Amino acid sequence: MQPARNNTAENQPPRHIAIIMDGNGRWAQARNLPRVAGHQRGAAAVRRVVRACRELGVQYLTLYAFSSENWKRPPGEVDDLMGLLRLYMRKELSDLNKHNVRVRFIGERTRLAEDIIALIDEAEALTRANTGLTLIIALNYGGQSEIVSACRAIARDVQAGRLKPEDIDESVFAAHLQTGGIPDPDMILRTSGEQRLSNFLLWQAAYAEFVFVDTLWPDFSRRNLEEAICEFRRRERRYGARPDE
Ligand code: FPP
Repeated sequence: MQPARNNTAENQPPRHIAIIMDGNGRWAQARNLPRVAGHQRGAAAVRRVVRACRELGVQYLTLYAFSSENWKRPPGEVDDLMGLLRLYMRKELSDLNKHNVRVRFIGERTRLAEDIIALIDEAEALTRANTGLTLIIALNYGGQSEIVSACRAIARDVQAGRLKPEDIDESVFAAHLQTGGIPDPDMILRTSGEQRLSNFLLWQAAYAEFVFVDTLWPDFSRRNLEEAICEFRRRERRYGARPDE
């Protein structure tokens, strides 16, 4: 689904913001702290940004919490990241629900611990009918693998006679992705000065504006988010007259 250009009028936030939260390790290193301290402060930044998005009226927020490549990190760090996610879900779920947030996860469930899968199921079930911000957590997520899985699902549909090859178009393909039903991100933000997509939302990024900021994720504030949204709006004003590609 393409982002709606007409939802970017003055004072309107982007409908869907996706964030590559980068720089936790460097934040900790600069303070001679263990990497886990950076991830802990990163989790605090997640709370700030979710709240800010709710209050600003953003409809969809996707956070890249753990990529399929992150398993290559030392086992202790993987455990720390999974532990923080557990803690976040256990501590925040009822508050998210109270604030009408719908929680969804994208990514592969393979390799995830049973209790994490149970927390995912619980969060999605509890918040399914909520109508406020949709918070999408990308966990064990990789864009290429998501595309391959969609191809497999489409091939199975064709094989079973449910779909004709000539009927496969962009919208059919998008519906087979894990983000089916979610509009594509209008803005993809990456912190810490790195300027890569790192296998994040490859298909969905087709029309996104990229905003790169130098701030390390643990330091990322509501003010930083508002500045990124301003940057997004400036670009929209500059190119607003062009027809959709
Ligand atoms: C990148 O920093 C960040 C991550 C790999 C994980 C992001 C995770 C969190 C913010 C914590 C928990 C998440 C939730 C949703 C509660 P890095 O370690 O790659 O930093 P570096 O590039 O400076 O080493």
